[in-house]
Amino acid sequence: MRLSRSQEIYKEALTWLPGGVNSPVRAFKSVGGSPVVMAKGKGPRIWDADGNSYIDYVASWGPLILGHAHPEVVEAVCVAAEKGTSFGALTDMEVKMAKQVVDAVPSMEMVRFVNSGTEATMSAIRLARGVTGRSKIVKFEGCYHGHVDYLLAKAGSGVLTFALPGTPGVPESFTAETLIARFNDLSSVEELFDKNRDQIAAVILEPIMCNAGVILPEPGFLEGLREITKKNNALLIFDEVITGFRVAYGGAQELYGITPDLTCLGKIIGGGLPVGAYGGRRDLMEQVAPVGDVYQAGTLSGNPLAMAAGSKTLEILARPGTYQRLEELGAKAEVSIKGVLDEHGVKATLNRVGSVMCLFFTHSPVKSYQDALTSNTDLYAAYFWKMLENGVYLAPSQFEAAFISCVHGDQELEETVRAIERSIEALKKDNLL
Ligand SMILES: Cc1ncc(COP(=O)(O)O)c(C=O)c1O
Repeated sequence: MRLSRSQEIYKEALTWLPGGVNSPVRAFKSVGGSPVVMAKGKGPRIWDADGNSYIDYVASWGPLILGHAHPEVVEAVCVAAEKGTSFGALTDMEVKMAKQVVDAVPSMEMVRFVNSGTEATMSAIRLARGVTGRSKIVKFEGCYHGHVDYLLAKAGSGVLTFALPGTPGVPESFTAETLIARFNDLSSVEELFDKNRDQIAAVILEPIMCNAGVILPEPGFLEGLREITKKNNALLIFDEVITGFRVAYGGAQELYGITPDLTCLGKIIGGGLPVGAYGGRRDLMEQVAPVGDVYQAGTLSGNPLAMAAGSKTLEILARPGTYQRLEELGAKAEVSIKGVLDEHGVKATLNRVGSVMCLFFTHSPVKSYQDALTSNTDLYAAYFWKMLENGVYLAPSQFEAAFISCVHGDQELEETVRAIERSIEALKKDNLL
């Protein structure tokens, strides 16, 4: 496989962009080697700068549930662009899109659009602190909510302590109000509430953890969080930036039948353009400025191009059969992949919900962040490169999800399974398996 043009572009990028990229994981640090530079996408496939084509399971990290350059979405963006790219004033399309989102997501009675998932979680937490008058928040080890200072916190030596900043540049005082609990462990949450009585504004989590691979909530976990937060007058915030419109039209809250107080969205609702949103009960959302006192604003929020792409994407997703088909595709992929792994005696764990999945190179089931960390990341890196050589573009990190789109079909699944077979054989030949 020739990657010379990718390498040339990356080399020049290193001069102008830190690490040659605009978001760290794109630099392929977890899998080694020089990143593949992408040039175009169409449907389920993506082409790099050297003209190699791949079946794409990254989907721009989740947004592209309709595949690349869906004709109806492209047309909607073009029509919007002709009328002007930004007004910084209310437009009809924002109202239409707000109605679509509120109609879809069970917990949402009102919504505010922002420009990224990071902005959505940051704003939802500001609102939670504003309405409760409390400052502490609970997040879960392994959940990612964007690059908000106090959400980039990881646990110290003991998990149930105040969080330490996860990066230089975040003062310890900024994470002092962040408490870390363990996913799928209600007692860790109860303990935090016991120790911090009447101080916790909100519990925020990805209802399905999708940033440590894919980790499903155990039965009773989300229900338990709902009860604990209610009992303690704290808000429950679902970060559905990945799961929203992905695991069901109404997100994980529809799938599991749990209604949070606030919900954060991003990715899919932008149809491939930059968008985020937060919303929830009307009494909470009416605390946001200009109705209420909790300030939050944005020059490009509700941008016409992003609203056009998002609105069209939701309109297409709302057509009958979408999520059933995604589930069928996901189930088929799961059965086929597990079949190939069994056949070749490869011990790995595949976690899946609908069209989002992760193959962990570990022998044990993955139900917690700590379980995910038992994965063999070197083996994943080798597998990643073999899959690339065999025409399949996976995330360049063990701890990311694979996304199937509505335009993946049997042909793509068959090619993928063949690529997995070839990759396993090559890894065995190299004595890596
Ligand atoms: C669950 C979750 N929340 C928030 C974010 C942050 O979104 P953005 O990258 O648009 O700021 C991400 C990004 O991957 C995410 O996966």
